[in-house]
Amino acid sequence: MTEAPDPARMIPDPTAGLEGVVAATTKLSHVDGENGILILRGKRIEDLAGKAPFETAVRHLWQDFDIAGGAALQAVFGQARIAAFAAVPLLEDAAPELSVFERMQLGLAALPLKGDLPDAVAIAGALPVFLAASHRIASGRVPVAPDNTLETATDLLRMLTGALPPDGHAAALNRYLVTILDHGLNASTFTARVIGSTQANLKQAVLGAMGALSGPLHGGAPGPVLDMIDAIGQPENAQAWIGEALARKERLMGFGHRIYRTRDPRADVLKAGLKLLGPDNPKVRLAEDIETAALAALKRAKPDRPLETNVEFYTAVLLDAIGIDRTLFTPLFATGRTPGWCAHVLEQRQTGKLIRPSSRYVGPQAG
Ligand code: ACO
Repeated sequence: MTEAPDPARMIPDPTAGLEGVVAATTKLSHVDGENGILILRGKRIEDLAGKAPFETAVRHLWQDFDIAGGAALQAVFGQARIAAFAAVPLLEDAAPELSVFERMQLGLAALPLKGDLPDAVAIAGALPVFLAASHRIASGRVPVAPDNTLETATDLLRMLTGALPPDGHAAALNRYLVTILDHGLNASTFTARVIGSTQANLKQAVLGAMGALSGPLHGGAPGPVLDMIDAIGQPENAQAWIGEALARKERLMGFGHRIYRTRDPRADVLKAGLKLLGPDNPKVRLAEDIETAALAALKRAKPDRPLETNVEFYTAVLLDAIGIDRTLFTPLFATGRTPGWCAHVLEQRQTGKLIRPSSRYVGPQAG
């Protein structure tokens, strides 16, 4: 038999989704699930998100790689947006039934990587353009060309709506994009590292990572979070609605995490961002009531499994509060995470080693 794994090196339960398995070393981020701490390249997430624009946080994360030399990231991301806009006609010609996410993948697949910009910059700079253009195309509007003098978050909102956003909205989007920049060896980052380990190019790694992110157990949860909040409608309905969902064995979107056994610190960073948007948003108050009811119900339903609020719950509330359509939540997640995926691919490539585990054969033996 060609695959004969050494039993001593076998993980105890290969069906457990690699839980607890260490599959890489990284300087990029550390998720301390017991204590609810997230560190990005030596800084706690609370000291980056809300404190600096997206570009500054990306520069911090990329500091060990020669990606953009000494150039200011705001300027090179601006250049990358302008270059990417040339691919937008292709998105306009695509089949109408394609989702925004799929159109972004199409634009990325068509993005030439032979220009003056480093690949990571060209890719990370292009996704906001593809996101905004795809959304406008889907709603029958003409795509808005990028303004390379603006920060990514401000220009992204401008390309979506056609007008410069209020400062508070740009600040909230910056906070969100920084919060989700990187997060250990989650499913999409692992996917990116596996693809990168084959020496495939950065574009292929990001396309694959986007595929992993699209599922509801990973990056696809915040849209359904908002659907849940809308379906509950009033705080007094929360307990019954949640009880019935759990009785049907449904998962409450925005709760639970593979690593965190306490509150996901990103949930609080985003919740703090909501407070800065101004008081008295009734949907925010409703969300807080639903969160309280959900946590109590999960504790009763799964007393042995700590299930706390994850990043996706307040992602949904924050992005909704700044007027982002729920169909854009996963596309935005991909946009913010892309510099993280790129950094992981570059770090993985430094090992020079192909990721290729073995499998345990449990099928019938050959005659
Ligand atoms: N609601 C209800 N029950 C839950 C939830 C939830 N949100 N999350 C886990 N559980 C239950 C499971 O049903 C399971 O119960 P069982 O043992 O009786 O079958 C138990 O808790 C353990 O669940 P697993 O799926 O084994 O735990 P895992 O660590 O693999 O799951 C995950 C993590 C996928 C995030 C899960 O908590 C979930 O599905 N949450 C909802 C989706 C979500 O919010 N995803 C976004 C995650 S954050 C991110 O990826 C950016």
